[in-house]
Amino acid sequence: MQEQLILFISGGGSNARQIIHYFKDNERVKVVGVLSSKPNLDMEAFCNDQGLPFFNLLGKEFAYYLQICHDLNVNWVVLAGFLKKLPSEFITAYPNQIINIHPSLLPNYGGAGMYGQHVHRAVSAANEPFSGISIHLVNEEFDKGKLLFQHGVALPSNCTAHEVEQKVRALELQFFAKDLDAYISAVK
Ligand code: GAR
Repeated sequence: MQEQLILFISGGGSNARQIIHYFKDNERVKVVGVLSSKPNLDMEAFCNDQGLPFFNLLGKEFAYYLQICHDLNVNWVVLAGFLKKLPSEFITAYPNQIINIHPSLLPNYGGAGMYGQHVHRAVSAANEPFSGISIHLVNEEFDKGKLLFQHGVALPSNCTAHEVEQKVRALELQFFAKDLDAYISAVK
C-alpha cells in the first residue's frame, strides 16, 4: 500500500511543487492533493497539469480540511508553508503524521508570529552567523513538536533578510522532499 500524503499551503507553494515532482513516480509515497488556505491560481494550474486535486479553502472551517483528508484516505499531512494553526481535533486525528517545515534552526526564531519573512528579518537583524531549516512533527504548540531533521547554512556578516531567505529556500528545495521520504520509509 502506498502512503497517501496531502500538502497544506498558504504561500506560493515552491516547497509543495518540489515535493510533488519528487514523489511523482514513487512506489511508496503518493501525493494526493493540495489544500490552500487562500486562492493560488498558479498552484491550481500546476495541480491540474499534474492531475492532482487543488482546494482553495479560504474562509473554510477545519472540519472541512479534515473531511477532505478523510475522503482522500490521507495518512500524512505535510505543512509546506501553511500558516494557520491547526486545532487540536485535527492534530489528534493524525497523531505523529503531521510534518511541518520551519525556516530557521528551531528552537531559535520559532513560535507565534515567527514565519516566512519575519524569521529572516529577525535573523538578519541579529547578525546571526547561521540559519537553516527544521523539519518537525506538529503538536499543539507552535514549532515545538519533535524535531526530525535540521540543515544549517553559514551566513556572511550583515546578511540582508533577502539573502538569508535565498539561502534558506535553497536548503528547503534541496532537503524537504528527501527528508520526508527518509522519515516515512523509516517509520513504515
Ligand atoms: C517557506 O519558507 C516555509 O519554510 C515557511 O513558509 C515558506 C513557504 O514558501 N514556513 C513557515 O514560516 C512556517 N512557520 P512556499 O509557499 O514557497 O513553499
